[in-house]
Amino acid sequence: MKNQSAIQHAPSPQLQSVSPLQAPLSCVNERLREQVKESERARIARDLHDELGAHLTAIRMAVAGLDEKIKAGATNASLRRQAEYATSLVDDAGSTMHRIIDDLHPPILEYGIADALEWLAKSHAKQTGLPCACECDEASRSTSSIDDFQAISLYRVAREALNNIARHAQATSASIRLQQIDQQMILSIADDGRGFDASEPQAAGHGMRNMRERVRGLAGQLELDSTPEGGTLLRISIPVTAARITIE
Ligand SMILES: Nc1ncnc2c1ncn2[C@@H]1O[C@H](COP(=O)(O)OP(=O)(O)O)[C@@H](O)[C@H]1O
Ligand SMILES: [Mg+2]
Repeated sequence: MKNQSAIQHAPSPQLQSVSPLQAPLSCVNERLREQVKESERARIARDLHDELGAHLTAIRMAVAGLDEKIKAGATNASLRRQAEYATSLVDDAGSTMHRIIDDLHPPILEYGIADALEWLAKSHAKQTGLPCACECDEASRSTSSIDDFQAISLYRVAREALNNIARHAQATSASIRLQQIDQQMILSIADDGRGFDASEPQAAGHGMRNMRERVRGLAGQLELDSTPEGGTLLRISIPVTAARITIE
């Protein structure tokens, strides 16, 4: 069993550069950001329709059932049961709504990307039972170095990478590292699992595609180093200080 410290965050010579973007930052445009936002809107619309919509339909049916029972002169006990059922559906809908709101803007991001990633690592480890260390250097903790869009994009990339590790990697541990070196914010997520071949068609799912789109939207680079022996290292670097000057 490979241990946590064996997970390497340094890029290796065989790194596959998945979406290098060499264009100058000034050319990295609103169009890419708009694309990312548009697919985000589509996802929210889907969540609202599939999850909240289903709850509302169930509530409507429960209330209609209550009405039927009243008209049919049902017993008080039966009416009470139906009313309790309707109330529990309303509570479920409330929880779903809060989950969708939290997902839109995770409250932990108010504390900065470093704290948010630490929280993500802890809560992911708790949910999956897979140990996940998180190391953020001092420079990356400066809340002024990245804007909200950059922070939420990095957070979502890290979350998808951790989900992929839990679903596909068969790893014994994972780790996140965040570093700010000069004008680059570097996020790496590593695991010691079975690796995969990124050039295979089955490796091109929605998750990987969204990650690449997000990184392109930040004028960044996404590099992937994956081997059966060494697990997977996903390394994202985005220009930070310069991006603030250009975009704000
Ligand atoms: N850390 C990982 N370890 C092993 N395989 C991975 C890892 N990350 C991604 N993959 C592979 O890449 C594929 C595509 O991932 P993704 O685009 O997120 O789609 P999905 O997770 O829905 O399958 C996965 O099905 C898996 O085969
Ligand atoms: Mg995935």
